[in-house]
Amino acid sequence: MKIGIVGLGFVGLSLTSVLASKGFNVVGIDVNKEKCSQISKGIPPFFEPDLEKTLRNGLRKKLEIKSDFSVIHDCDLIFVTVGTPQNRTGAIDLSIIKKAIASIGNNIKVSKKQQTILIKSTVVPGTVKDIILPILEKNSKKKAGRDFGLISNPEFLQESTAIKDTKFPHAVVLGGYKTKFMKKVQEFFTKLHPNSPIIITNHQTAEMIKYANNSFLATKISFINQLSNICQNIPGANIDDIAKTIGLDPRIGRLFLNAGPGYGGSCLPKDMKALINFADRIGVKPSFLNEVEKTNQKQITNMISLLERKMGSINRKKITILGTAFKPETDDIRDSISIKLIKKLIEKGARIIVHDPKAIENTKKIFLNKIEYSESIINALTNSQCAIIMTQWKEYSKINNNTIRRMNKKLIIDSRRILADKNIDADYQAIGIGNNN
Ligand code: UGA
Repeated sequence: MKIGIVGLGFVGLSLTSVLASKGFNVVGIDVNKEKCSQISKGIPPFFEPDLEKTLRNGLRKKLEIKSDFSVIHDCDLIFVTVGTPQNRTGAIDLSIIKKAIASIGNNIKVSKKQQTILIKSTVVPGTVKDIILPILEKNSKKKAGRDFGLISNPEFLQESTAIKDTKFPHAVVLGGYKTKFMKKVQEFFTKLHPNSPIIITNHQTAEMIKYANNSFLATKISFINQLSNICQNIPGANIDDIAKTIGLDPRIGRLFLNAGPGYGGSCLPKDMKALINFADRIGVKPSFLNEVEKTNQKQITNMISLLERKMGSINRKKITILGTAFKPETDDIRDSISIKLIKKLIEKGARIIVHDPKAIENTKKIFLNKIEYSESIINALTNSQCAIIMTQWKEYSKINNNTIRRMNKKLIIDSRRILADKNIDADYQAIGIGNNN
């Protein structure tokens, strides 16, 4: 059996590497030739724990990387993992996936195999049946369900644990008609993930499951963030103790209750906006989802208000930002709240210096010489009038009185409460912990 994977981003490259390292005959396909050439040499285009090792392991076995779609005609399973970004209105932009599907259609046309296409990309309900299926049938001159299979197979991996999540998914969702293709794919996944539940449903439900999953995670974060804002106004109240305790109730669960500066990254903000836009389009007012988003956007405003309350005007003040990655163990800064905060502080005239263990190169691409960059935490803090901890990198938990000794004014705003238990000789303001001053 040969497996093709179209689109070598986080999802596609993780899947490619994991399947190849397990010995499957895999071809990873991406239109970006430069990216393909790097990946063929065992160099991932982004940082993800264990990815490089897994990719190299795969390359020693039966893995090929191609920028030419013609290899698709020889594949039995074809996973589509291309991006589905948002357009200016927040709606989903299907242009990349439509193009990829058209190329896949053209190539399955000449295949003698009974192929199955699995859509992993996040798409709003109805997309597979109403848009992807017609393009495939038109370009291949074949019939879905008879000549080829088409299955919705949403992905739930998280960046920073992508390899582990790809190897051990909490669930496998297969959406589509109960055809011979579905049966084969079900067998494939049962062998691949013997301990993961497999949910078989229709296309539109599978598509909606993905949005339900991400919007629920976003809801948990906005819920705890709103509570954290309340706590901040109750002297002595601590959001972490609250989250830890309510998380013990199995009906609530302990994960995704870490209060912070709001959710960022390439998925939750985009998928929330796409779902809101979709609901509006089909005539359902998504008032609750809108509130989740509004609460998220307010977090950054609240942080700036706190900063101005403590510093007065921030014009010309030197501010250190610790962490630009949207979460630890990644170099990804897409839709990172830290990047948004820096933009707002620059608008207000602040002089910014940033530190991040992995994301400095990506940060430089955005701010060029508008801000300063530091490779060490101590240097980033030298002469600074305020430090803002944005990403919970474990390096930052080691900050102590010695690390901050060269700060000009010892004001620390900790959006992740990493230093809450330390005896720091500074004006320490933690998001979610009530303070008297
Ligand atoms: C998210 C989902 O968690 C994955 O299940 C999903 O597959 C993925 O989107 C996707 O759709 O592709 P990811 O974007 O990697 O994964 O990041 P998360 O770990 O969900 O974090 C998102 C944001 O929420 C980060 O800014 C993080 O700091 C924030 N967050 C997360 C919190 O503020 N508190 C928490 O308790 C958890």
